[in-house]
Amino acid sequence: MKLKNNTVFDCSVVDMSKVNTVSGNITVVENGPNIPFEVKRVYYLYDVPGGEVRGGHAHYELEQYIVAASGSFEVILDDGVNRKRVFLNRPNLALHIVPGLWRELDNFSSGSICMVLASNIYEVNDYIRGYNEFLKLKK
Ligand code: TYD
Repeated sequence: MKLKNNTVFDCSVVDMSKVNTVSGNITVVENGPNIPFEVKRVYYLYDVPGGEVRGGHAHYELEQYIVAASGSFEVILDDGVNRKRVFLNRPNLALHIVPGLWRELDNFSSGSICMVLASNIYEVNDYIRGYNEFLKLKK
């Protein structure tokens, strides 16, 4: 299967806005108004040991919003030509990752929570887990 020819420049940090009150903030994500795909799965990474690197794969079709629900971490995006590093540290900001890109996550702060809103359920066959295979498929 051919990989989508998206580049790292097709990914952006989206401000999902927040409802600001004296007693704290609320950020709302609803299918339709503020997300460009239908959310079919939500999962979150937590208790990531210091120095650990997560991700290390690409997806054929999956589209995602990645949110630092607590703390901070960095996302490395790679399209086979360009690399981009994105620092996330606010719960109202989401990194929109389009399909066909290699991604890694690192520099997790202690106690951080990486929440992922995904356009599909978990599909093993949607993953490319080898970087060299990714590069070949991207050509
Ligand atoms: P993986 O996608 O490799 O995690 P990451 O890319 O964040 O390092 O998933 C780790 C494990 O969790 C793997 O055994 C598959 C399982 N998993 C599910 O069962 N369902 C899911 O929705 C996800 C994201 C992972």
